[in-house]
Parts: sequence; C-alpha cells; structure tokens
Amino acid sequence: MEVRDYIQIAKEAAVLGGYILKENFGAIKREDVEYKAKKDFVTYVDKLSEERIRNFILSVCPQHSFLGEEEGIYGKKDSGYVWIVDPLDGTKNYINGFEIFAVSVALQKDNEIIAGAIYIPMLEKLYWAGKGEGAYLNGSRISVSDRPVDMAIIATGFPFRYEEEIDVYLKAFREAMVTFSAVRRPGAAAVDLAMTAEGVFDGFFEMKLSKWDIAAGMLLVEEAGGIFTNFEGNRELDGNVVAGGKNIHKYLLDIVQRNLL
Ligand code: IPD
Ligand code: CA
Ligand code: CA
Repeated sequence: MEVRDYIQIAKEAAVLGGYILKENFGAIKREDVEYKAKKDFVTYVDKLSEERIRNFILSVCPQHSFLGEEEGIYGKKDSGYVWIVDPLDGTKNYINGFEIFAVSVALQKDNEIIAGAIYIPMLEKLYWAGKGEGAYLNGSRISVSDRPVDMAIIATGFPFRYEEEIDVYLKAFREAMVTFSAVRRPGAAAVDLAMTAEGVFDGFFEMKLSKWDIAAGMLLVEEAGGIFTNFEGNRELDGNVVAGGKNIHKYLLDIVQRNLL
C-alpha cells in the first residue's frame, strides 16, 4: 500500500468514529461519565469509537500496530507502522453538549507521520493529509495563514491537569494576549491544529499533550505549509506544541521559550 491508500483508510476511520460521536451526541448522562483521573473523564462513546476504528484499521492493515488513547496498544508489535488514534478529542465539550470535538487518526511509519485525518462531525469538516501529498479539507487544498501578528488569532489549551504549571503557563498566555489580536481555547487540540492548518487560527501552543492529540495535526500543519515544533523548536512529537505559519510560529516560539522553558 502507498501513502494515498493510507490517507483513504485514515479518512474512513475518522468518519466511522465520527458517526458514533454524532449518533450519541446529547445523550450523555451523569452516570455515563467515568473518571480516569482528577478532571479527566471518559464515556462509553470514547470507547465505542475507539473499538470501531481499531477493528476497521486492523482488518485492513493486519500487519500494523494500533495505539488508541483508551485501550492502548493492539495488533502486531514492531511492525514499523503504528496507527495513533484519539477516538474523541474534546470529551468535556462532548459531555456538556458543546459541538467542538473531533476524531484524530494518524499513521506513523518508523518515526514519521505519513498519513492522517481529523474529523469534526458536527461541522462536517473532514481534514486529511499525506506526507508529500498536501493538506485538504473536504476535498479542497488548505494552507496556513499569513496574517500579520496584530491580526492573528492564536488557539491554546490550558494545563488543567498540571496545577504546578498554571502560573508559568499564564505568563505565556498573557504575552500571547498582548502580542496577538486574540487567544481562543476551543477545548480540543486536534481541532486547534486542524484549524491552524486551515488558516482559521494563525497559530497554536499547548503543553503536555499526548501523541494521539497531535499526531494527525502535526502532519496537517506541515503539509499546509506551516511549522510544527516542540518548545525547543525541534520537529518532535513530545507533547509540547508550537504551530503556525512561519512568522507566527517564530513569535509564538519566542513567547513559549521565554516563559515555559
Ligand atoms: C484533551 C483536549 C484538550 C487538551 C487536553 C486533551 P481529550 O483531549 O485535546 O484540548 O487541552 O490536554 O487531553 O481528553 O478530550 O481527548
Ligand atoms: Ca485528546
Ligand atoms: Ca480523547
């Protein structure tokens, strides 16, 4: 199989999960919400979406490994190919009935993400990208923005799981608020990155994310002509993210490095 085949699989998998999210949207009751940790929830919808996506992917790619947020690793070990999946990114939004949430599906080969898709079911937005193939939204090519700094809107996420990080984070947040025209916190990192690739947001930063939140988004941003790095400025998926068009990335990285490193 080639990258284009993998893109197709990623798209189908994201839509498959998205149907489950859509079908159950608005139906989550208090007793459906389980605690994974303090301030960290999961529902039967996250798990069902992951199971459907995993069954589909491993049925078409039985030689590959699969890493899902909720159930961990399945499939062949050491195959060189790992599907990295967040079956519901934005669980809190989902539980409360806020329509901003997504499914994120990425394929990593050795150390590179080579195909990915992010689906926002309530907006019917399906984003995808392939290494060297560009980034797309519902069939149209997308690219990162080139807005000037004083017009830029930056997306971010709060380190709500890490109370010890809140004070330093707020310093970076403050500087971003002063530097750019606006800062937004939509509540789903995959959405933040997809919309950065689309040029809706001009940049994005967040600390201590997980691979499944950002793997597909990294490829989308890069294939849309943007830059995706960690806080050191390296092209790495270590969970600390600075992304955007070249100019905005430079400003954001500077803010992050002065405050968060
Ligand atoms: C969360 C969202 C959120 C980010 C959190 C993630 P989840 O994912 O992406 O925007 O701030 O750190 O864990 O738990 O809803 O899949
Ligand atoms: Ca997530
Ligand atoms: Ca999730």
